Amino acid sequence: MPNIVIVGAQWGDEGKGKVIDIYAPRADYIVRYQGGNNAGHTVVIGKDSFILHLIPSGILHKGKICVIGNGVVVDPKALLEEIEMLESKGISVKGRLFLSEQAHIIFPYHRKLDEMKEERKGKIGTTKKGIGPCYADKCARVGIRVADLLDDDVLKEKLADTLNEKNALLKKIYDAEGFIFDALYREYTDYARRLREYTCNTVVILNEAIRKNKRILFEGAQGTLLDVDHGTYPFVTSSNATAGGASTGTGVGPTKIDKVIGIVKAYTTRVGEGPFPTEFPPELMEKIRKKGKEFGATTGRPRRCGWFDSIVVKHSVMVNGIDEIVVTKLDVLDDLESLKVCVGYRCEGRFFKNFPTNIRILEQCEPVYEELPGWQEDTTKVISYTKLPKYAKAYLRRIQTILDTKIVLISVGSDRKQTFSRE
Ligand code: IMP
Repeated sequence: MPNIVIVGAQWGDEGKGKVIDIYAPRADYIVRYQGGNNAGHTVVIGKDSFILHLIPSGILHKGKICVIGNGVVVDPKALLEEIEMLESKGISVKGRLFLSEQAHIIFPYHRKLDEMKEERKGKIGTTKKGIGPCYADKCARVGIRVADLLDDDVLKEKLADTLNEKNALLKKIYDAEGFIFDALYREYTDYARRLREYTCNTVVILNEAIRKNKRILFEGAQGTLLDVDHGTYPFVTSSNATAGGASTGTGVGPTKIDKVIGIVKAYTTRVGEGPFPTEFPPELMEKIRKKGKEFGATTGRPRRCGWFDSIVVKHSVMVNGIDEIVVTKLDVLDDLESLKVCVGYRCEGRFFKNFPTNIRILEQCEPVYEELPGWQEDTTKVISYTKLPKYAKAYLRRIQTILDTKIVLISVGSDRKQTFSRE
């Protein structure tokens, strides 16, 4: 297996955790390259269900090396809790989890600012994990990185500096309480002590691995439409969730990446605010949400659900350079009499075949649908493509044709075993 990027081709929650888990046995390294603990990657193994927020899902496979790359923002408390959770279930991470010294650290003031901004007009519907404010500090060149955390003197100086500014902001703009330096410094030096053994220069580790022909799996978080450049800005996350982020977020050059696999749900979901042209009417929304258990793995928020939007996924195929597609949760559509696939948008008398970059247009556009017959049969026990109901195959074939991209894998349930190839 070459070096592969797994990327969400919709608004996140496409089932990347499950797909990573399937590809992981054939990889040597599994790497997270962006986002933070706003992600929630669920892997179901028999009766056990694991939700991983920061550590790559590949950690569930013995002997695999997992890397949290420089492009990730790390809440040390969340990371330590995740390490403890895995260790308590008998999954040892020691010696096979590596954290980039260049990754940026989330502090409580990032979370607080995220919360305060969300209470104001024009909220994004964030996970309130401090992701946006942490990336903002990174870009403003005032962030604190893992390497800084490990150096007491540097941490002291940087934290004191930044805390002055953050406390003033919290008090003056948001009328909120600030943070006390001593308590924060103590808390974070303790995290540094506990995380030190995992930290290193992951850029060198990964490039050395590639030189030795090891195989890398890049685990994208969130989805293309949440990408800060290519998504529905400003209703996006603050990182590059697209495949390009795999390079900048790990220090592995683009020439070393061989393949991009896009993950799509057989329908569409999104959490948080922002345009969603194919959103279901309330009754269908309730039905699919219930059947698909569409509640956020990180925040528990109900997800908005809608028809499959090929304009969205075509955009994803383009901006990620997607070579192959995996379709998840096909079984959730089992009961429907008929299905719709969005094939264009209409807005102010214009027809759009491409995803509009102007959010105002996107907010106003009407989806144009193609209607297909439902299969109305249980697919959860199907173990090969040929055994799928005729109309389920027709649905997948139609999506493949519209996207002009090969569907390679189909998933019909949360368990590892409920997955089969298209061949
Ligand atoms: P943030 O990443 O917490 O700043 O949230 C920004 C937007 O991205 C919000 O609409 C969130 O609901 C969404 N978001 C962030 N992480 C995920 C995810 O893992 N799955 C789905 N949506 C996400």
